[in-house]
Amino acid sequence: MAYRHTSAMLQEVMTCLACRPGGIYVDCTLGGAGHARAICEQILPDGLFIGIDQDPDAIANAQASLKPYAANIRLFHDNFIRLPDFLTQLQVDAVQGILLDLGLSQHQLEASGRGFTFQKDEPLDMRMDTRNSNRAQDLIADLSEKDLVHLFYCYGEERWSKRIARAIVEARAKAPIRTTGQLVAVIRTAVPEGAAARSKIHPATRVFQALRIAVNEELARLEHFLETAVDLLAPGGRICVLSFHSLEDRLVKQRFKQLTQPCTCPPQFPRCVCGGRATLRLVTKKALRPTPQEIEQNPMARSTRLRCAEKLES
Ligand SMILES: C[S@@+](CC[C@H](N)C(=O)[O-])C[C@H]1O[C@@H](n2cnc3c(N)ncnc32)[C@H](O)[C@@H]1O
Repeated sequence: MAYRHTSAMLQEVMTCLACRPGGIYVDCTLGGAGHARAICEQILPDGLFIGIDQDPDAIANAQASLKPYAANIRLFHDNFIRLPDFLTQLQVDAVQGILLDLGLSQHQLEASGRGFTFQKDEPLDMRMDTRNSNRAQDLIADLSEKDLVHLFYCYGEERWSKRIARAIVEARAKAPIRTTGQLVAVIRTAVPEGAAARSKIHPATRVFQALRIAVNEELARLEHFLETAVDLLAPGGRICVLSFHSLEDRLVKQRFKQLTQPCTCPPQFPRCVCGGRATLRLVTKKALRPTPQEIEQNPMARSTRLRCAEKLES
C-alpha cells in the first residue's frame, strides 16, 4: 500500500537544520520519509543518516523510499527515546543534527485502520507501535470515571470532560466500546447540542487527541527525550522540533529556554554562585509557523510550530 504523507514546513526545516555534507543526522520520526529524503540529498555521499519510527508501516515505507541511499542509512523500528542506545550500537559519539516531527502521519490517520480518526468507523486502537499492549479501547474499558475526566482534561483540554466520562461509564456498563464509531456516538450524547453547533471543531477532536497521547505516552516520552537529546549533539549541531499542539510545544519551549539560560541562581542573589553555563543557543527566537499557502495545500500542517536550537561550543 502506498504511504501518503506531505512533509510539514520542509523548506524551513532544511534551513534550520543547515545540514553539512558528510555529517551524521537523525530523523527520529521518519513517517513518510519526506524530510529524511531531503536530509539524505544534502549529506550524501559521505554522510550517515539514522532514521527511527515506532510505526512498522513507516519503517517499511522508508526501507523502500530511501533505497537509493541504502549504503549510508541505518533504520530502527523503535521509540526515539532509544536513540542513545542506537548511537552506541553504531559507535557514534555525537551527531550534527536531530529532527523530531511529532504527531501523526497522513497514512496513520487515513489508511492504518487503527482508529486515529473520528471520521471513520475502525477498531479503537491508536497504537503507533503495534507491539505495545495498551490500546485506546483498553483505556476506555479500564479507567475509572475520575481518571477518564483527568485524561480528557489534561491531554485534550476538553471542556466537557466530566459529562463525556460519565457518558462513557454508562455506555460501557451496557456494552463494551470497541470502535471509534461507538465512541463518537457516546461523545455526541454528552456534549450539549448548542455547544457542539457553535464549536469550530468536531466534538470528538479533543477526546481523540487525549486518548492518542495517553496510548502512546507521547508527552512523557518527549520530555524524557528532551532531557538527553542535547548531550547527543556535537558542538554546532542543531535540534529541530515540529510540534502540533500546545502541550508538546510547551515542553520543547521550556526545555530549550532552560538550556539557553546558564545561571540557575535565585534572582535575589547578588552574583552567580551556581557556575551554570548555557548549552544551547536559540536559532528560532519564536516558533515558526507554516505559510498560508502551505496550509492551503496541506491543511494537516495548519497547527505546526517549528523550534530549532544549536549546541554551543563547550
Ligand atoms: C508527522 S509523521 C513524520 C513525517 C515525516 N517527517 C515526513 O516527512 O514524512 C510522525 C511520525 O512520528 C512517529 N512517532 C511519533 N512519536 C514517536 C516516538 N516517540 N518514537 C518513534 N516514532 C514516533 C509516528 O509513528 C509517525 O510516523
